[in-house]
Amino acid sequence: MFRNLFVIALIIACANALSIAGVRKTIDGATKENFSAVTAEVEPFLLNDAGVTFHSKSLRRLNTKAKAFGLELPENYAKAAKCTEARRAKQDAFVKAKIEEAAEAAAEAAEEEAPAEE
Ligand SMILES: *[C@@H]1O[C@H](CO)[C@@H](O)[C@H](O)[C@H]1NC(C)=O
Repeated sequence: MFRNLFVIALIIACANALSIAGVRKTIDGATKENFSAVTAEVEPFLLNDAGVTFHSKSLRRLNTKAKAFGLELPENYAKAAKCTEARRAKQDAFVKAKIEEAAEAAAEAAEEEAPAEE
């Protein structure tokens, strides 16, 4: 029972490792001519399967390649990745809280300037 689970986990881990190696190889083999094909090919893996570390390493590699070719990665390339979702949600919440705070402060300041007649 546990043995089977272990084997399944191992298979998943290996499949993931293979894809990581494949994505790495694909990125390393990119040329100026097929750079956009390479980015399109590895994006699904970066979006859905890559962990935070591999995601950021791959983006760094792609950026380095792009610069060497005199190209640029699209602004939002692989940005909506599952592995960075939690971080983005946290950032969104932080920004929203800051905006609400600022709006409240502005409303208070306005009230102080012009006391409402009741
Ligand atoms: C891009 O071109 C290189 C050199 O021809 C090749 O080795 C590589 O497999 C190509 N990659 C893709 C994704 O087509």
